[in-house]
Amino acid sequence: MSDGQDPMNAEGMAHTPPEGGVDTSHGPILYLENVSVSFDGFKALNELTLYVDDGELRCIIGPNGAGKTTMMDVITGKTRPDAGTVFFGQTLDLARLSEHEIASAGIWRKFQKPTIFLAHTVFENLELAMQADKGVWASLRACLSAEQRDRIDEVLALIGLIGQRGLRAQSLSHGQKQWLEIGMLLMQNPRLLLVDEPVAGMTHQEMDRTAELLTSLAGRHSVVVVEHDMDFVRSIARKVTVLHEGSVLAEGSMDQVQSDPRVIEVYLGA
Ligand SMILES: Nc1ncnc2c1ncn2[C@@H]1O[C@H](COP(=O)(O)OP(=O)(O)OP(=O)(O)O)[C@@H](O)[C@H]1O
Ligand SMILES: [Mg+2]
Repeated sequence: MSDGQDPMNAEGMAHTPPEGGVDTSHGPILYLENVSVSFDGFKALNELTLYVDDGELRCIIGPNGAGKTTMMDVITGKTRPDAGTVFFGQTLDLARLSEHEIASAGIWRKFQKPTIFLAHTVFENLELAMQADKGVWASLRACLSAEQRDRIDEVLALIGLIGQRGLRAQSLSHGQKQWLEIGMLLMQNPRLLLVDEPVAGMTHQEMDRTAELLTSLAGRHSVVVVEHDMDFVRSIARKVTVLHEGSVLAEGSMDQVQSDPRVIEVYLGA
C-alpha cells in the first residue's frame, strides 16, 4: 500500500478487522516498502520492498550479513526502521506497535535456541504456551476445557510428538525440541510465523520432518523461513526471495533464482 493509513475500503466503509485483527481482504498479509535500517551508518536494510501473501510459505535466502535477521527484527518490532513502511494486512502499522502488540496481532517468531521449559513434559509445555499470560503455576493448576485438550492434541500430531507427550522436554532430541517450540508458537494461533534457520544442527531425517511440518502449516498460517541449507530450501520452496546488501536481489521459484547469474555470483557460486 502506498499511504498505508487509509482504514476505509472502496465503498468508504470502515473495515472491521476480522478475527485476529489483521485485514487481508485487499491483498498481502505483510508489506515491507522501502524499508531502511542503518547501524552506525551501515545500511543493514536498504530500501527493502517485499510482500508476503496470506497463507504463503516464503523462503528467504542470501549471504551472511544480507539483512535477513534484521528484516525479522523489523517485522517483530525489535528494530525500528529508519525509513519505509511495514504493514501487517491493510491497517496495522508495525512500526508503531510494540513487540508485545505485534505478537498479540498474530506475528510470532521462532528463535534458534528454543525457549521451552525443560523440566516440564511436552504436553505441559503446550499447555503453558496456551495460557502464557497466566503464569506457570496458575496454568498447570487450571482445568483444561475439552476444546483446549483437542487443540493440544492437534498440535501434538502436527509436530509429531504424540508419543512423547508425557516426556520431559529435556529428554527430547535437538530436532524434537525445535518442533516443540514451533508447537508452542502454534498454540498462539499465529497468522504469521517467522522462522530463522530452523534446521541448523539437525540430522537429515529431522530436516525432512521439519520440511513436512513447515509445508503443512502454510495455508492456515503464513510462514517466512530464513535458511542457508539449500537442500532444505529446495524441499519446501514455493517462492524464494534472495536478499543481498539489504535489498531484494531476485525473487521467484527455486529454479529461477538458482539460475539467476546475479544470485550465483553473490551467493550460490561461493
Ligand atoms: N544490532 C546491530 N548492530 C550493528 N550491526 C548490526 C546489528 N544487527 C545486524 N547488524 C549488521 O547488519 C548486517 C545484517 O545483519 P543480519 O544479521 O540481518 O544478516 P543475516 O542476513 O541475518 O546474516 P546471517 O546469514 O549471517 O544470519 C550485518 O552486517 C550485521 O553485522
Ligand atoms: Mg541471520
